[in-house]
Amino acid sequence: MDSLRELLAPFDPSLPLARAHSIPSAWYRDPRLEALERRRVLGDTWQLVGRADQLSGPGNFVTVEVAGEPLVVLRDERGALRAFFNVCRHRAACVVGEAQGTARRLRCPYHGWTYDLRGQLLGAPEFDGVEEFRREDHGLVPVAVDRWGPLIFVHLGASPPPLQQWLEPLPTQLQGLEELRFFERREYVLACNWKVFVDNYLDGGYHVNSVHPALGSVLQYSDYRTECFAQTSLQSSPLRSAEPDAVDASASATRKGDLARYAWAFPNVMVNLYAGVMDTNVVFPLGPERCRVVIDFYFAQLDGAEAQAFAARSVELGHRIQLEDVGICEQVQRGLGSRSYSTGRFSVRREVAVHHFHQLLAARLQSPG
Ligand code: FES
Ligand SMILES: [Fe+2]
Repeated sequence: MDSLRELLAPFDPSLPLARAHSIPSAWYRDPRLEALERRRVLGDTWQLVGRADQLSGPGNFVTVEVAGEPLVVLRDERGALRAFFNVCRHRAACVVGEAQGTARRLRCPYHGWTYDLRGQLLGAPEFDGVEEFRREDHGLVPVAVDRWGPLIFVHLGASPPPLQQWLEPLPTQLQGLEELRFFERREYVLACNWKVFVDNYLDGGYHVNSVHPALGSVLQYSDYRTECFAQTSLQSSPLRSAEPDAVDASASATRKGDLARYAWAFPNVMVNLYAGVMDTNVVFPLGPERCRVVIDFYFAQLDGAEAQAFAARSVELGHRIQLEDVGICEQVQRGLGSRSYSTGRFSVRREVAVHHFHQLLAARLQSPG
């Protein structure tokens, strides 16, 4: 493949689903595409980076990396959420080293410049006599930050759309997130491109019965629906009670309510919601053929031994489902490297959201700018 243009050209986003092909296999492997995605996709979309419980009080902070950029996200002394590039304005050292904590001010470990929680430069030791140097011009560079219930997002782009608008219609359709409490985080490193994980998530239940028999036993597969919106999609399936001889009783014991909902926001944010149970999955690229998936589990009820045991069982089921997905995603990545494969077709009944993802992605990667 000689040029980036030749790499990008083969996908035609204008084809309707019934005529469309998936994005080319080279898009899941080529380092040049990964660099372009950093700039135009992960570096220019709302990214889920933290939870409100991590930033509950003044001075609480977390450090994260988005699209290769080090960031610090915090709550200032007045209770406002703020995010900054975690890069000192003096010689570019990382200002905050810890993954999370509490601080009254931020002090760069290199030469001791200090910043307040609003990012203003408070002190620069031994800087007398420096001409045309104004402290107010050397604050930490801010980044857009906002939240949806307990979920905190940042956006590195120059003119971010409002988060609520970006997520439409998820905030109105998925109510009650505020009442959920964080229970546990699990992280996974997968030997596949991050988009393989997203494709797998968005396939409209197509893989559920074969890859996740326990989960399949509680979903009413024939009534599984997928709807696509501007930057989001929503899959939903009625739940049925498992038959007595079900493959695995833990699915029916921990996936309750009438409806399972699987929401996605472009490009890498996934929210799974059952009655009183939620988990968020975010997938971050770690190179063309590796990614990290961070899963946070939340529950409406965590008081008492019974609720704790329920939450632990539910996390265990989520973990087993995730291992099933890891296995299939890693196999897919190997197949994508085969000379025999370049693209595949879509099930019109099932795979509308995968196609929608590929169209959104291509719109950014193929745009001339
Ligand atoms: S790089 Fe931060 S004080 Fe010098
Ligand atoms: Fe799956």
